Amino acid sequence: MALRNILTQEDEQLRKQSRKVEKFDERLHTLIDDMRETLENSGGVGLAAPQVGVLRRVVLVLDINKDPEEMIEMVNPEVIERRGEQRMVEGCLSVPGVYGYVTRPTWAKIRAQDRFGNWFEREGEGVVAQCFCHETEHLDGHLFTEKVEEYVDIEALQQKDEEGADE
Ligand code: NI
Repeated sequence: MALRNILTQEDEQLRKQSRKVEKFDERLHTLIDDMRETLENSGGVGLAAPQVGVLRRVVLVLDINKDPEEMIEMVNPEVIERRGEQRMVEGCLSVPGVYGYVTRPTWAKIRAQDRFGNWFEREGEGVVAQCFCHETEHLDGHLFTEKVEEYVDIEALQQKDEEGADE
């Protein structure tokens, strides 16, 4: 496994459409393993392949609602159901140091394939629902800053650190 460099918002790659994964081969597994290591190293809760410069529909989301926390690997993911609304502080590993309020569903269901191509569905609440939306948007070239309603002062945010999450 290897750490990959996380691109920041100036990079054109982050604005591009990612392609569907068709081959569930060793190359895909290496990408996922590297993304896992990169995400764990970053301290964030989600990572999309375009953030490491690979325009493929692959995302990782750390399910922090599980005990112990569980890393969900999702290939060709799609958010298929959303419920509720919550206004949450959001950040992104590709936009370091920037946080803002975004409206997200309180609950979401995602459909995806695992690294071997098997389809599955997964539900998430709170930060996990937020993350499902945020990460799949990366695959279509969108950054959370397009949705920010109000930017948040980083020092004020750190005082209520339970709300902050880098995705
Ligand atoms: Ni992000």
